[in-house]
Amino acid sequence: MNNSIIKGIGYHVPSQVVTNDDLSKIMDTSDEWIQTRSGIKERRWVKEDEAASHLAIEASKKAIMMANVSPEDIDLVVVGTISSDYFFPGVSAQLQAELGLDKIAAFDLKAACSGFVYSLSVADQFLKTGMYKTALVVGAEAQTKFINKSTEGRDIAVLFGDGAGAVILEPGDSHSGVLSTHLHCDGKDLKYLWMEGPGSSGACQINIDNIQQNPSHYEPHMNGKKVFQNAVVRFPEVIQEALDANDLSIDDVALVIPHQANLRIIQAVAKRMNVPVDKFYANLQRYGNTTAASIPIALCEAYNEGKISKGDIIILAAFGAGFTWASAAIKW
Ligand code: UT7
Repeated sequence: MNNSIIKGIGYHVPSQVVTNDDLSKIMDTSDEWIQTRSGIKERRWVKEDEAASHLAIEASKKAIMMANVSPEDIDLVVVGTISSDYFFPGVSAQLQAELGLDKIAAFDLKAACSGFVYSLSVADQFLKTGMYKTALVVGAEAQTKFINKSTEGRDIAVLFGDGAGAVILEPGDSHSGVLSTHLHCDGKDLKYLWMEGPGSSGACQINIDNIQQNPSHYEPHMNGKKVFQNAVVRFPEVIQEALDANDLSIDDVALVIPHQANLRIIQAVAKRMNVPVDKFYANLQRYGNTTAASIPIALCEAYNEGKISKGDIIILAAFGAGFTWASAAIKW
């Protein structure tokens, strides 16, 4: 069976740079705390009139241009996002309309920080079966529209940023492209990283009383330590799963592109796998955690910096709310 190949990539981040010092003016935090705990120096925030779809459209245009495909060739759009412009429909519907795509299959996929790898895997399966021929796969987030930008929400607020990344996937051959994907979820710990509302459960339904009585249901909450402890176990597991499925060793891999949540998580994963940390790409210092957008943005920057060459094996690895975790092994 033929693999899907990545024909084009593109990313877009908002122009508004928010440094750690900027944050320390609006909440009780410091550059020292943020850098020591996470490695993050700055992040991008969307402006009031921007949303996830604006970022997704710009990233998609760049991927389409690099792939040299026409919008009418695209027959599948999958968008990983948990911060769509509207509660429904999804960003995918806006992309279809704004990019002038034909009346094609388009849907959003809500797997938080694993959203891009999940979306890539779903698109890959459709291409493998021959149901679709050219897929646009996007990770796009405007998470900072939901965070509590005060001392009360500082544990989350300092970590997250906005952005989008996109790839164009097409059928390729049997020895390059997306070699394998592995997807996982364990919902028993979902409350360690979650946002309750708006939702269909009692106190999260949207009505004036709920919003006034439970405003904190409408912002994300995290048990950082539990997330950290799970992440440093699941990342090595799912990377090893990708290696085993392809009869590879970590030495065969040119670059691992992990979800960009925390430099200390990346360092701990490298240490657990007994691999030099520079085998793991990191750009979270400049963007923070952009949830489903972090891996495609990192993929683009790694490629632009000349860190990925034709024939290289790269592994994408994600972990996030759900908990979900996932990997993709790709021969470039
Ligand atoms: O995509 C997956 C999403 N999330 C993650 O991957 C996050 C994983 N977890 C982490 O990265 C880390 O747990 C954090 C960076 C979130 C926190 O680091 P930590 O070393 O686990 O710190 P902590 O939660 O134990 O907090 C230590 C202290 C607390 O004060 P007390 O109770 O010791 O007095 C917090 O109230 O730091 C305080 N704190 C802050 N101080 C300044 C929490 N947030 C901040 C802040 N600035 N922004």
